[in-house]
Amino acid sequence: MKVLVINGSPRRDRAHTGRVLALFVQGIEDAGADVDIIYTRDLNIGDCRGCFNCWGATPGKCIQDDDMADVLTKIAESDIVVLATPVYVDGMTGSLKTLLDRCIPLLHGRFELRDDHCRHPLRAHVKAGKLALVSVSGFTEMDNFDPLIAHVKAVSLNLNREFIGALLRPTAWIIPEVEPHGIPMNDVFEAAREAGYQLVSEGRMKAETLMTVAREIIPQSEIVKIMSDIFEEK
Ligand SMILES: Cc1cc2nc3c(=O)[nH]c(=O)nc-3n(C[C@H](O)[C@H](O)[C@H](O)COP(=O)(O)O)c2cc1C
Repeated sequence: MKVLVINGSPRRDRAHTGRVLALFVQGIEDAGADVDIIYTRDLNIGDCRGCFNCWGATPGKCIQDDDMADVLTKIAESDIVVLATPVYVDGMTGSLKTLLDRCIPLLHGRFELRDDHCRHPLRAHVKAGKLALVSVSGFTEMDNFDPLIAHVKAVSLNLNREFIGALLRPTAWIIPEVEPHGIPMNDVFEAAREAGYQLVSEGRMKAETLMTVAREIIPQSEIVKIMSDIFEEK
């Protein structure tokens, strides 16, 4: 099974998206899948120009000659695509959105009706696989992920991929803050790995596993205080 992980964090694997993702990917590999990780930060991907040549003059091919051609091939061949992003202004990062905008060559321009809803058919060489989300946030509340989840679910429908769930870690930045104090968190790390394993072996992630990844580590009032100390302006 081929899994393509697209990490949209500008801080690549060096920050909190990357840390959660590394555990998740370990689980995916333990379950026997082939994983390819790409970082939007490393890619040269221009904005979609909205010219629709990929639906007209050059079917399935973008007129821009940049890194997106390789990314389109990888997506087309993947059984599972994992979109990983921190919450940025209540959604995904700009570079990940730019990459998704450039995915329309995977589709035909014509409409078809699926569940009584207009969609674009996938081109013949594109797998109709699955799609999952991995995200971290700065704020503590789970509802900070709601707009992102709604967006990614809609993207899944448009790419004709089954949305198979979201691994979410609110306030991921608190982990390295409290780690030196010996607060136990191994269950959180192990659950992130287990979620990756389940994704491949069961085609879904269990609710209790996802809840363990997202569980409270320290009370919200303490998080507010730590954040205020970090960003106190003189
Ligand atoms: C420009 C920007 C916008 C952000 N917007 C939100 C937001 O709307 N909600 C939230 O909970 N966290 C927000 N955050 C916090 C990030 O989700 C958090 O810092 C995350 O750990 C960043 O990912 P990284 O660790 O992979 O760099 C924002 C951070 C930045 C830099």
